[in-house]
Amino acid sequence: MTGRADARLLPARALLGVATAAYQIEGAAADGGRGPSIWDTFSHAPGRILNGDTGDVACDHYHRWRSDLDLMAELGVEAYRLSISWSRIFPTGRGDVNREGLDFYDRLIDGLVERGIAPIVTLYHWDLPQALEDGGGWLNRDTSSRFADLASTVAPVLGDRVHTWITLNEPWCAAFLGYAADVHAPGRNDPAAGLRAAHHMNLGHGLAVPELRRLSASRPDVSASLNVHLVKPAPGAARDAVDRIDRVGNQVWLGPMLRGEYPHRLLEETAHLTDWSFVLPGDEMQIHQPLDVLGINYYLPMVVRMPGEGVQDAGAHGIAGNPWPGSEHVEFIQPEGPTTAMGWVVYPDGLEELLTSLWDEFGIPLMVTENGAAFHDVVDDGRIHDPERIAFLRAHLEAAARAVRRGVDLRGYLMWSFLDNFEWAFGYDRRFGLVHVDYPTQERTPKDSARWFAALARERAAAR
Ligand code: NOJ
Repeated sequence: MTGRADARLLPARALLGVATAAYQIEGAAADGGRGPSIWDTFSHAPGRILNGDTGDVACDHYHRWRSDLDLMAELGVEAYRLSISWSRIFPTGRGDVNREGLDFYDRLIDGLVERGIAPIVTLYHWDLPQALEDGGGWLNRDTSSRFADLASTVAPVLGDRVHTWITLNEPWCAAFLGYAADVHAPGRNDPAAGLRAAHHMNLGHGLAVPELRRLSASRPDVSASLNVHLVKPAPGAARDAVDRIDRVGNQVWLGPMLRGEYPHRLLEETAHLTDWSFVLPGDEMQIHQPLDVLGINYYLPMVVRMPGEGVQDAGAHGIAGNPWPGSEHVEFIQPEGPTTAMGWVVYPDGLEELLTSLWDEFGIPLMVTENGAAFHDVVDDGRIHDPERIAFLRAHLEAAARAVRRGVDLRGYLMWSFLDNFEWAFGYDRRFGLVHVDYPTQERTPKDSARWFAALARERAAAR
């Protein structure tokens, strides 16, 4: 199913793996002393999630992790990116550590190491303890310090085996879909709140990184995973809209993290919303921590223009609720071409463009911490034939390989996702997994894409 050529795509030293996140797969929402997170509250609120789905049970990975790890090992997974449920460690966001929660991850990491799989661990994949949200959530500066507490609690326990720490996952989604656009938890609809939340997430990152370094025995790499948007001008449009979306979508993180400051133009473009007085002296330098690698989550490109610009019949559309504080007027064009079940256009070249441009701009090693696709999978006589997913992944691997040939230091390529899981506002309706999950029975069935992955991993192993 795969040729030698596929096996050579990714450099041998880069890790080939899969990714998940706690709320999307664990279930066991009330087990083991776990406290509620904002995603429990949000998913239980009527009308928030497609079909009223919640993460209460999800893939029941909390109980099935051993067999899930066995399956991962069978597939030849080299690295597994998981996330920690903050409210399993701190059920009320602060105070006493819930030992049972910490033990769960301790055993999970042991299980990975025993199977020869490198653990890549995300600290924040959007599931803020509800108790912290009750105190203002990411609008409250104190949450940044509580996040540093999470880092200093898990690092001494897990940091002797973790390969790479990732502080935040896609803070753009957490801050702007969550606080500005009312699409994700906690479901707020205020662009100024989005910016304030963004800063406190950045600050949390800046406070957590030194803790992870100081307290992790095996000196793991430290990173953050950003969904850096690949933004392109609509036909006939100038660069204006591209630059605005780049600033509020990308530079709002990359600026303070990698340069030590927010772009001045972003502050100007959002001055009617906020005076940014939540940025205190010293914050930007605190956020500017050396990182070993930058995680990139890539799914689709964005094509934009200013109102009235360019070819006017291309069918502009807004994005629900405006997750672009200060640039709400920018129009998004649906590019032509095949799409996934998310309606996202398939554009593998974008991965090469993104990796090379980030490498050229920052010279930091990169890891694709997520890339993958949802398709409407059909179970056919116990098999799931998903040639579109294989084609998608292969094309993106090829794009990553081209970036490597152009000099990018690529440390890994992790597919989203290992299992079908809870796709946030879309519930269980969108399937991204290499492995199919039958939710009523919790049966796992590797799709053809999982077999393709396994063949690829085997050939990589044989070539070593
Ligand atoms: C990015 C997020 O990190 C992940 O949680 C989500 O499921 C995928 N994108 C697919 O939308």
